[in-house]
Amino acid sequence: MKILGIESSCDETAASVVEDGTRLLSNVINSQIDIHAAYGGVVPEIAARSHIEAINPAIEQALKEANCTWDDIDAIAVTYAPGLIGSLLVGTLAARTLAILKNKPLYPIHHVEAHVYANFVTQQSPTLAQQLTLPSSQPAFPMLALIVSGGHTQLVLFRDHGDYELLGQTQDDAVGEAFDKVAKIIGLPYPGGVSIDRAAPDGNRNAFPLPKAKLQNPYDFSFSGLKTATLRAVQRELGKDITFPSHELAGLLSESQRNDFAASFQRVAVETLVDKAVKAYNDLLPASVVIAGGVAASDALRRELKERLPIDIEYAPMKLCTDNAVMIATLAYYKAQRVEPCDPYALEVMPSISMTKTAWAKE
Ligand code: KG4
Ligand code: ZN
Repeated sequence: MKILGIESSCDETAASVVEDGTRLLSNVINSQIDIHAAYGGVVPEIAARSHIEAINPAIEQALKEANCTWDDIDAIAVTYAPGLIGSLLVGTLAARTLAILKNKPLYPIHHVEAHVYANFVTQQSPTLAQQLTLPSSQPAFPMLALIVSGGHTQLVLFRDHGDYELLGQTQDDAVGEAFDKVAKIIGLPYPGGVSIDRAAPDGNRNAFPLPKAKLQNPYDFSFSGLKTATLRAVQRELGKDITFPSHELAGLLSESQRNDFAASFQRVAVETLVDKAVKAYNDLLPASVVIAGGVAASDALRRELKERLPIDIEYAPMKLCTDNAVMIATLAYYKAQRVEPCDPYALEVMPSISMTKTAWAKE
């Protein structure tokens, strides 16, 4: 079964064809990072407008790279939640129109849940120009997923496809959001996670002691205190008080101070994620552990989790951790085995619904 996936929930316009929920046939990602970097973050109106320009060419290219015509496509899958409303509307409108015109079943996909399914891609077409290093096998259930993106930080236990339990989540900022905000404070470019991952190896990770949040539920997270503590440490280091404009702090830091802050923040953020994932593993003893979402591309997180987890862990390639449509088409295959497609005339976007509230989720 070949599924065309479409993703446009934030700042990437992506389209992809995946076969049987495991074989990647094409992966087109049109990133708007360069456009938004000038503003230090995603500007929703610009994102929506850019999706309109990019979406049809992305879909055409995804079909072409997969050597598919519309006759070869068995279904269409599209991100309908969560994300920026204007961005979601562009992808869903394109998908709905194509589903009607080409007479294909349409599956609405939850973006955060789909991130986890990047880990189910284990094969790829040999004709792809860029070959990826993929996991050797699909993760087994019960599967513990550490989901770490720009908008979400969650620990979820998957008993089966569509059957999962939310163990804990962030009570304030998502970890990716904290990476992005701290990068801004210390003057590193958007997206902050990538910049901090690059700067941290040149810094001293013990230069500045930063706090780890303590929460009642051991699987919950909180990153806003860490972000504020980093800001206070920067102010202290530069001899400025809280009345000094925070956007002027970055310009006063030397490169080595900047690297030290990146390394110190990253150490605590990554340790927090790994502490909780390892605790959940030891408490629940799942058959597999996966990480998912943009922050799963972090070198430091990958290294530390592998070191401290008592079982072997395989990672999806970094290109499939940040936003893409491969994960959308992959999850749709498992959904298609279990639920009916949606009515393309009635599909609505849901900018903030949790994955545990989606139609096929059993909790
Ligand atoms: O999953 P994603 O691409 O978009 C959302 O669904 O939010 O995640 C984006 C987040 C951003 O906060 C970005 O800074 C972070 O992922 N990120 C990273 C890395 N690459 C992207 N964080 C740490 N290390 C990276 N290499
Ligand atoms: Zn994402």
